[in-house]
Amino acid sequence: MKYRHLGKSGIKVSELSFGSWVTFHTQSGLKDAIEMMAVAYDAGVNFFDNAEVYAGGKSEEIMGAALKKLGWRRGSYLVSTKLFWGLHDGPNEKDTLNRKYLLEGIDGSLQRLDMDYVDLCYCHRDDPSTPIEEIVWAMHNIIERGKALYWGTSEWEADRILEAIEFAERNHLHKPMVEQPVYNLLQRHRFAPEYEPVYRGHGYGSTTWSPLASGLLTGKYNNGIPKDSRGALPTYEWLQESLTDADSLAKVAALQPIAEQMGASLATFSLAWCLQNPHISTVITGASRVEQVHENMKATEFVDAFTPEVMAEIDRVLDL
Ligand SMILES: NC(=O)c1ccc[n+]([C@@H]2O[C@H](COP(=O)([O-])OP(=O)(O)OC[C@H]3O[C@@H](n4cnc5c(N)ncnc54)[C@H](OP(=O)(O)O)[C@@H]3O)[C@@H](O)[C@H]2O)c1
Repeated sequence: MKYRHLGKSGIKVSELSFGSWVTFHTQSGLKDAIEMMAVAYDAGVNFFDNAEVYAGGKSEEIMGAALKKLGWRRGSYLVSTKLFWGLHDGPNEKDTLNRKYLLEGIDGSLQRLDMDYVDLCYCHRDDPSTPIEEIVWAMHNIIERGKALYWGTSEWEADRILEAIEFAERNHLHKPMVEQPVYNLLQRHRFAPEYEPVYRGHGYGSTTWSPLASGLLTGKYNNGIPKDSRGALPTYEWLQESLTDADSLAKVAALQPIAEQMGASLATFSLAWCLQNPHISTVITGASRVEQVHENMKATEFVDAFTPEVMAEIDRVLDL
């Protein structure tokens, strides 16, 4: 496992990391979570991603309990949470980044994780109805109070990220350091052109999500939705359209022979492809069972096989 700086910060993250969206509580209980996190950690993963909203807070509880059980040195790993959607329906507690919500939200997350601080706290989405100065001040205060060490954004527009950075710099406040955007072979169009000035100009870090497009890039949806997959989960029916999209499935089929030629599974090939991008600090992987973690961690072995010729061939079959 290699380690990359989180943007231009001093902290380093493993190039593959591990997150708990969909899986913890819904598909995996504490025992499975412990097993999967242990396999990832043994492979060199040092960053575990979470969010307040995952499984209505249960995902944080499971990760916190797993970390207690695993007993690793706190300095040896990073944990994140993200705030925005909230756990309650009140007018100030949902789809917001107001100061009251953020300052109370981080306390709730820390309580569920049973931790004194998280390493990274993200604003899970932008809230254009809250002024940028209120958001930056609240995140600065979260850091000043020792409840998070760094803060970042997720799926923000590049202009708003720049606004936040500039406001923080002008006022000598802790600025956001990292974006968490979607990035995979089939969903990459926003990443490159839009975020270019943020990555290049400000050395912003990036922790990217859904590297396998929720499993589509493993080839498991080629013949319909398997019963034991994310696509079959009752509360994730909204994903079915993208997981059965004919154009995407044709692209997945076209990638298969390139992966085979490399001796990689489609999953490891797709993860290793993400690692080619120098603006990526870490690719957050997800898994519903331990065998997937074992397989996904092998992606690091294929990074060097992505020659310029192979990259061009991939773009050709994806019709880019
Ligand atoms: N910031 C955000 O808005 C945001 C949004 C989404 C995710 N995230 C973060 O990014 C992390 C990763 O996202 P993701 O879970 O969507 O990643 P993903 O890699 O696109 O999908 C992971 C899912 O694909 C299937 N899978 C993984 N490896 C496999 C393998 N080797 N063979 C077959 N199936 C495999 C599993 O689902 P099944 O076995 O159930 O089919 C697994 O749960 C999340 O946990 C979360 O931390 C952030």
